[in-house]
Amino acid sequence: MTEFNQQAKQHVADIIEQKRQLPGALLPVLHDIQNTLGFIPPQAIALIASALNQTEAEIHGVISFYHHFKTRPVGAHVIEVCRAEACQAMGSRELEQHVKNTLNLDYHQNTKDQQFSLEPVYCLGNCACAPSIRVADKVYGRMNAEKFAQLLDKLTTYVVELN
Ligand code: FES
Repeated sequence: MTEFNQQAKQHVADIIEQKRQLPGALLPVLHDIQNTLGFIPPQAIALIASALNQTEAEIHGVISFYHHFKTRPVGAHVIEVCRAEACQAMGSRELEQHVKNTLNLDYHQNTKDQQFSLEPVYCLGNCACAPSIRVADKVYGRMNAEKFAQLLDKLTTYVVELN
């Protein structure tokens, strides 16, 4: 879903209604919206703020603090490249350039076919196996051009069932 239509608005309202009584309801609300819509539509922020009695600035603050939250639609596969120190020491800058060239993308962009998005991250807790990238919830260590090509192959290969 890429637009905030009536259906998306109702969906957000339903999530808020289900979670608003929870202590610290904001994070569960944001997670549910992102998990189901794929991102937090900017128009949802006013609804959340009003329902949870918080300011829109507070909601924006939480969203920007947690890099996990996206405020735009992302591709089917989000590739996160670690830019933190340990990975940089092990060549993440070159890896990053390779990934950008391969996908013809910069950070915070999607491929035209909406298959891939590229995002920077700052430490994936996998420093011992730097440089690291993450796709979905899986972290891949000691990443290099060859392994990245294999990973892309895997992500773009579909299982065809023959009857
Ligand atoms: S610095 Fe990249 S995983 Fe920790």
